[in-house]
Amino acid sequence: MWRMKPKEHWRQFAVRGESEPAPGYVGHSPLPYPESWYMLMPSAELGAGKVATRRLMGQDVVVYRTASGQARAVRAHCPHLGAHLGHGAVRGENIVCPFHQFAYDADGKIAEVGRGYTDKPKQSTLPVLHCQEANGGIFAWAGTGPPPWAIPEFLTPRHTPARYVTYDVPTHPQEILENGADTRHVLLLHGYGAAPRPAVLEGHILNQDIDLIRPIRPLPPLKLRAEIQHYGLGFSTIRINIAAVGLEQRILVSPRPVEPWRVHMAIGASIRITPPYRSGRGEGDLAQGVMKAVGRAMHPFVTWLLMREVNSDFQIWSSKKYTNPPRVAAGEGPIGPFRKWAQQFYPERPVRLWGNVNDPF
Ligand code: FES
Ligand SMILES: [Fe+2]
Repeated sequence: MWRMKPKEHWRQFAVRGESEPAPGYVGHSPLPYPESWYMLMPSAELGAGKVATRRLMGQDVVVYRTASGQARAVRAHCPHLGAHLGHGAVRGENIVCPFHQFAYDADGKIAEVGRGYTDKPKQSTLPVLHCQEANGGIFAWAGTGPPPWAIPEFLTPRHTPARYVTYDVPTHPQEILENGADTRHVLLLHGYGAAPRPAVLEGHILNQDIDLIRPIRPLPPLKLRAEIQHYGLGFSTIRINIAAVGLEQRILVSPRPVEPWRVHMAIGASIRITPPYRSGRGEGDLAQGVMKAVGRAMHPFVTWLLMREVNSDFQIWSSKKYTNPPRVAAGEGPIGPFRKWAQQFYPERPVRLWGNVNDPF
């Protein structure tokens, strides 16, 4: 029987032999890194006092959780003599370097020096990233200045907690998100009837609704509405409403660029079942409890269905090239408006994670 592994699992979409299609690019990218929030890891994988290392834009980022539960993300290499803090430890609210045991606080300042030191080195600050925990994930802001917006909470207490699966795909965040605008592929690759509505652009948010029809012969076709929202190029939400069976699925997507043309993509899914009747007085506690239990029981299956669908996208992404300008035919989805909207996330100067003049790394 299929089972979701409790921790993130990795699927590698890489070349396995000459008969396999090659990735579009290796080690370089026709698109720079976009400025955005990216999910570093699911919250559940980082307990209090734990330290982990993740890649972001060609750099190691060390993620740790303090004793009081704060998640933080810092540059991996200690500003003192360069040891990797991924081998360090958490002491109270600080991270401690394994080499000379300097402890760094929330702002990256030295809170304590190691035993035997009488002074702190001058101008020695550990660069920190803006961090936010939302939707069961730990997000970091990768941009030239402070984050101009925050990650919105997308799940309510009535939804099952999001289960995340992480994929390693040779592609770029923009290519992944373009999928929502490319409504023809929904029919031709996934087999759904798809009627797109125009994309609605609101600054860093792009809204795209699609009415979908899934033929499930001999039953009547299933009608769904997918409401997609991109918040920059590093975090998207998809709300899928299957009104006929009282099921709402909420999907969270964060394609984190780890190297040029390589993405670690987290997909989280959550569901909410609504009772097939309306009492007029809202849903009672008992009905809510039962529906939540049904939701939890169905969750692995619904997630598996989603992953099955996404696997066909991975095959395309992991070997495609970036076509610019796109040769779009009449009647296709809003690929042009999506590309124009995406431009705002590429600052004139390349995004530097630790945009700090003092940074020797
Ligand atoms: S290298 Fe980190 S304290 Fe010395
Ligand atoms: Fe797709």
